[in-house]
Amino acid sequence: MKVLLTGAAGFIGYHTAHRLLERGDHVQGIDSLNDYYPVSLKHDRLALLGSQPGFQFQQLDAARRDLFETIGEHVADADAIVHLAAQAGVRYSVKNPFAYVDSNVTGQVAIFELAARLPKRPPVVYASSSSVYGASETVPFSETARADSPVSVYAATKRAAELLAHAYGDLHGIHSTGLRFFTVYGRYGRPDMAPWLFTDAILKGNPISVFNHGEMQRDFTHISDIVNGVVAAVDRITGDPAGTEPIYNLGNNSPTMLLDFIAAIEKAVRRPAIMEMRPKPSGDVLRTFADISLAERDLGFKPKTSLEDGIADFVDWFRNYPGLNLGSAS
Ligand SMILES: NC(=O)c1ccc[n+]([C@@H]2O[C@H](COP(=O)([O-])OP(=O)(O)OC[C@H]3O[C@@H](n4cnc5c(N)ncnc54)[C@H](O)[C@@H]3O)[C@@H](O)[C@H]2O)c1
Repeated sequence: MKVLLTGAAGFIGYHTAHRLLERGDHVQGIDSLNDYYPVSLKHDRLALLGSQPGFQFQQLDAARRDLFETIGEHVADADAIVHLAAQAGVRYSVKNPFAYVDSNVTGQVAIFELAARLPKRPPVVYASSSSVYGASETVPFSETARADSPVSVYAATKRAAELLAHAYGDLHGIHSTGLRFFTVYGRYGRPDMAPWLFTDAILKGNPISVFNHGEMQRDFTHISDIVNGVVAAVDRITGDPAGTEPIYNLGNNSPTMLLDFIAAIEKAVRRPAIMEMRPKPSGDVLRTFADISLAERDLGFKPKTSLEDGIADFVDWFRNYPGLNLGSAS
């Protein structure tokens, strides 16, 4: 199978590409290599992918209006598009809303326009987010619940992307699957996310900011489990396009209190955290909790990695990663 994969230099894109290549698929990766976090980490991921047969890469903005003219020829034989490129991060969207509209909304239109013009009209598996559930108090979050009260620009753009996917299905018959990821962590993860920030600070003896006095819960999901879900979604939609749900939650179905999460890092690092309690940032939600019954039924999705094992593996990688001098990660 040949896959066009956007966001290939990103955290989830890198791991997904790696898995697809490992099983013999061809991956045409694109990524704008934006500097939201240090680009050296993206280059390190790409270097690892480049050593695997079947990987090709082009630095490209997936939100270009002339995407078809730019790469249409290279990907004319693509069997599927995995669209993971996005401006991620809830807090950054407070100050930089346009980056989100450009990458996440215009980018979604550009990718679906491309799919509609390619000869094989490949199905699109794209990344959405648990943030679309907003401040919903009904848990676990189910795909059938309304998701029309986002509390951040990031969430609103992710929900807009889902609605656009629906419109392209109706208008152009493009099949798609949206995957609502729940707080993904693991090796080669993102320097702006809590696992990285906390591990880095605790190792250096620096204080960590604990929001809402630790009264927050996240359904932390290990990258290996997420990749299982993404690849299963690709296989399902290429094999049986009409038999998939439009949207699946990919989460751990087991929310963790922030203080327990910090304790897991302290245990793996073998040092205590210095905690500074802070109010909840606006845009952050208090809790995420995935109902994964649909993904289990259709994709065989069953998270296997315990938080303890996943964090131990992340910390082990973090201690040995030579590219750690990333500036913004400290
Ligand atoms: N990591 C998580 O916990 C999480 C949770 C929910 C949803 N998501 C979604 O999963 C996807 C992957 O996230 P990630 O954690 O790997 O983030 P990431 O920032 O590591 O990866 C995204 C990649 O997309 C690239 N990119 C951004 N805009 C682009 C554009 N216009 N054209 C081409 N490339 C562009 C970036 O350079 C980056 O390498 C995103 O859509 C994100 O919104 C992630």
